[in-house]
Amino acid sequence: MAIQRILVADDEESIRWVLSKALKKQGLIVDLAEDGLQARNLTRKNRYDLAVLDIKMPGIHGLELLKQFRADYPDMLIVIMTAEATMEHAVTAMKNGAYDYLTKPFDLTALDAIILKAEKAAELTGKIDQLKEELQDQYSPGRSIIGDSQPMQEIYKILGRVAASDVTILVTGESGTGKELIARAIHINSQRLGKPFIALNCAAIPHELLESELFGHERGAFTGATERKTGRFEQADGGTLFLDEIGDMPLELQVKLLRVLQEKEITRTGGSQTIKVDVRIVAATNQDITQLVEEKKFREDLYYRLNVVPIKLPALRERTDDIPSLVNFFLKKSQQDLGIESIECSEETLELFRSHHWPGNVRELENTIMRAALLSPNQVLTPADFPDLLGDRNPCKTNESLEALVAQKLENSLAQMNLQEMNNLYDMVLHQVERPLINIVLQKTRGNQIRTADILGINRNTLRKKIKMLDIEVKRGG
Ligand SMILES: Nc1ncnc2c1ncn2[C@@H]1O[C@H](COP(=O)(O)OP(=O)(O)OP(=O)(O)O)[C@@H](O)[C@H]1O
Ligand SMILES: [Mg+2]
Repeated sequence: MAIQRILVADDEESIRWVLSKALKKQGLIVDLAEDGLQARNLTRKNRYDLAVLDIKMPGIHGLELLKQFRADYPDMLIVIMTAEATMEHAVTAMKNGAYDYLTKPFDLTALDAIILKAEKAAELTGKIDQLKEELQDQYSPGRSIIGDSQPMQEIYKILGRVAASDVTILVTGESGTGKELIARAIHINSQRLGKPFIALNCAAIPHELLESELFGHERGAFTGATERKTGRFEQADGGTLFLDEIGDMPLELQVKLLRVLQEKEITRTGGSQTIKVDVRIVAATNQDITQLVEEKKFREDLYYRLNVVPIKLPALRERTDDIPSLVNFFLKKSQQDLGIESIECSEETLELFRSHHWPGNVRELENTIMRAALLSPNQVLTPADFPDLLGDRNPCKTNESLEALVAQKLENSLAQMNLQEMNNLYDMVLHQVERPLINIVLQKTRGNQIRTADILGINRNTLRKKIKMLDIEVKRGG
């Protein structure tokens, strides 16, 4: 936005004439007012980027006009002129939001300089607004928070409802579900955008240092405190403080935090002065905090104070519908971050992803994709590119079912035996498992004892002894 239209209000005709001539020469539209009332009427008809107001005018005083205009047209820049260069006037003008202040008589270049400065400022404000919009866009659901599954829609609804207010929010969810991402989205969609977003991970900082991290300390507050330090609360003033892993906060500190939240003021460690802070709190934990409350490891009163609005993020396995779009997002990201060519995932791979348990949630998916994108020579990623996932799935499932099967068989067999008469049950059962196991592997390797021992993970001599002892017949090349 540039300065295009200017209002000049002065009761002296010569001043109006000089200013209007100079400004029009620069291609600006200039309207003139002889007194405050005329000036006010003009602003009701036209939109001005800049108003140059004399202080002493008949009717409404320039400083009074300044106040009214600041309230009614906050975007309009106002320059105050006066022949009486008193400090009082200058201070009042600036305090009431004047953009600049000129004492008459002034050189026209002084006004030019002000206009230039105003244009630059306007340009910057425009840029900041644009940046804000971009940021908002970037973090709006569907952009960098990926997922439009039903459970995520519910999250977005809550977010939309509460982000703009100052209510405290407790974000819970397993590790890697996007708690920090949501905390940032809350900040970005609040009035506090442009103010600091400060994060503190309560689990990452030794307990004894946590208090001074949060509230700061005065010089000499404890050994090692050689300088005064502002804490995260002060740093976040006007903005949002994200208290991550809140479940790890020691009980003594929980008491202090609760007091700060209630009083909205802090005291630095070793200090006596209280400092007002205006901070919106978003806390997060991947622990079951209600259980911590039950176990008296987390204060109930603090829990209620933080949990004004709970947001519980679903585990990835609870929103498998989002897997394809997340996979796409991370594939694109890997292209950008790692500078690799475009790759895709096969349908089969997506199926594999859908059935995986994902204990590390979105973070695990992200790392899995990034690693495969980097390591695989293929354009299209297939399940073979994810041996870890296959490994984790198959043996686990077969082991489970095998054990269940064996247990059932065993129960049946034992039911038919007279256990009182047995004295070598252990060996007997083990032999019955060992014999078929060795037999099957020997068949698969076509009698190759070296391969069989490798697959079974036993020594070759041991295998030979067992074959002999269990009386197993080895068919070579069969
Ligand atoms: N919905 C999502 N869309 C895109 N990326 C996501 C999403 N959720 C999480 N991520 C990504 O997954 C990673 C982990 O997210 P984040 O750090 O927010 O998780 P967290 O819940 O705070 O985990 P932890 O409990 O381990 O601290 C980040 O790289 C984040 O960008
Ligand atoms: Mg986190």
